[in-house]
Amino acid sequence: MSEKKFVLVSRVPQTPDALKILYDHFEVRINEGSPYSKDQFCKALEDVDGLFCDDDEVDGEIMDSATKLQIIANYGVGYNNVDVVAAQKRGIAVTNTPEVLTESVADLAIGLMISVSRRVSEANYILKKRKPLEWVGFYLPAVDINHKTLGIVGFGRIGQALAQRALGFNMKVIYYDTNRCSINEEKQLNCEFREFNELLKEADFISLHCNLDKSTLHLIGEDQFNLIKPSTFLINTARGAVIDEKALIKALQTKKIAGAALDVFEDEPSIPNELLDADNTVVTPHMASGTFEARKAMTERCCTNLIMALNEKTPQDLVNPPWKPKK
Ligand code: 8YV
Repeated sequence: MSEKKFVLVSRVPQTPDALKILYDHFEVRINEGSPYSKDQFCKALEDVDGLFCDDDEVDGEIMDSATKLQIIANYGVGYNNVDVVAAQKRGIAVTNTPEVLTESVADLAIGLMISVSRRVSEANYILKKRKPLEWVGFYLPAVDINHKTLGIVGFGRIGQALAQRALGFNMKVIYYDTNRCSINEEKQLNCEFREFNELLKEADFISLHCNLDKSTLHLIGEDQFNLIKPSTFLINTARGAVIDEKALIKALQTKKIAGAALDVFEDEPSIPNELLDADNTVVTPHMASGTFEARKAMTERCCTNLIMALNEKTPQDLVNPPWKPKK
């Protein structure tokens, strides 16, 4: 009988019960402490066949310490934390968790839009901190989302799910993506394509839904803030570094934009004080997929990918094809 393979779970997921299936297939080691340092990570991976990781930086050096490693199952649809090229060179499969969090992220994007434009978080803060409040009609004047134009940057699954919701709020939806939809798809989705700069100039709300890679790093910087209308709100549930945070702080301070609602930051978990202290920001701690439903499904998806790859089957969410199991 062949020995059980070894799986390392680098952090306890929010729904640990969903990990149980791994025990039927593998020897499982779970890091219940704080996230590994690079040295600890290398050591922990020495005898490991499969890695379940969550936002950990996994680079070539770390992969070199894991000579048996067959699969890196990333807990998240974004996988910019994993050096996919390095994995490819070493014959290691990389997988993500698409689909299962689409609706949850799109829901929060809508929630953030309403929160920042209707000043919900600000009002909540004032009341809870027992700050003086004048109960008059024009206290905290706010802005509607209905009948406004939403510009979606990155029109994949999550961008399209947001579009559906926005149409329900009677918004006009324009989008930019490097892959334009067909005219038929645009008709069906009731969304119009715009070149990037045109979208920036036209939208009342801009919501980011692209991957983070070299081409989208600081996609929104000083030049782009110069194009955006001063009445526009910026929403980010994608990755912090898609926005140049210093330029954002300046744009907020000089009222180049009306406000920003941010779930992600350039240097998580730290958030610049300027973003925390500003009245025209809403901040949440990278929780767009943080519902029990989505998290459970993400965990299950990672487990399925691990089980497939370690049983010599191409995992369903492989992001770096082709892949062949190591003999
Ligand atoms: C997770 C995410 O919150 O799916 C993604 O890309 O950013 C999130 O779902 C994150 O990966 C967990 O730390």
